[in-house]
Amino acid sequence: MKRLIVAIDGPAGAGKSTVAKLAAQRLGYTYIDTGAMYRAVAWQALNDRIEPDNESIARLAHKIDLKLSYADGKTEVLVNGKDITDAIRTPEVSRLVSKVAQVPALRDVMLKLQRNMAAQGGVVMDGRDIGTHVLPNADIKIFLTASISERAKRRWLELKARGYNIDLAELEAEIACRDKQDCERDIAPLIAATDAITIDTTKLTINDTVKKIIELCKERQ
Ligand code: C5P
Repeated sequence: MKRLIVAIDGPAGAGKSTVAKLAAQRLGYTYIDTGAMYRAVAWQALNDRIEPDNESIARLAHKIDLKLSYADGKTEVLVNGKDITDAIRTPEVSRLVSKVAQVPALRDVMLKLQRNMAAQGGVVMDGRDIGTHVLPNADIKIFLTASISERAKRRWLELKARGYNIDLAELEAEIACRDKQDCERDIAPLIAATDAITIDTTKLTINDTVKKIIELCKERQ
């Protein structure tokens, strides 16, 4: 059976990472969270007090180590050996990351790293530019989306479970701002690839969405 390359893109909160992780697990593939890579660089830039649009942040990408677990799809994120898996999910990092992700030199380094990670096949990679730039020859391209209010609600619940008490309307505005930055940047903006299959998850359960993706994969294996 062919070990496919599956690209999943979409805006913040569409359910990409949850769904991609589960799909990878069921297929016995590796899940690669490219957002975590940009977040790790944003975290390090915050830590080192480097301006987010400074080209020198590109070198930080080489310090990131993603520990990918095949068994449970868990991704541990390390920078210089320090575990920052939870630290990259804070609201501070979320607010900064889309600025960092606009730096051309950084995107260039990430593109190469991510292509290498997918080279052997048997991967589900999620992000914003996977189907359009990183893996234009992916076997399957999915564009996951959902209404902005549903996406904000999901993120709000996620943050609440982690102890953050954030105003829902404020969170929705922040997500809209991040979407705008991701969609309007010059390099590799967030857009569905022309050959991507769009799945609107607003009214779908996680399980329904994963099932749809697995069916698509089975057709092409
Ligand atoms: O997926 P997640 O929301 O964790 O991604 C965080 C940010 O990283 C995105 O809003 C985007 O600015 C950036 N990103 C990107 N390209 C990717 C993955 C993420 O620009 N392939």
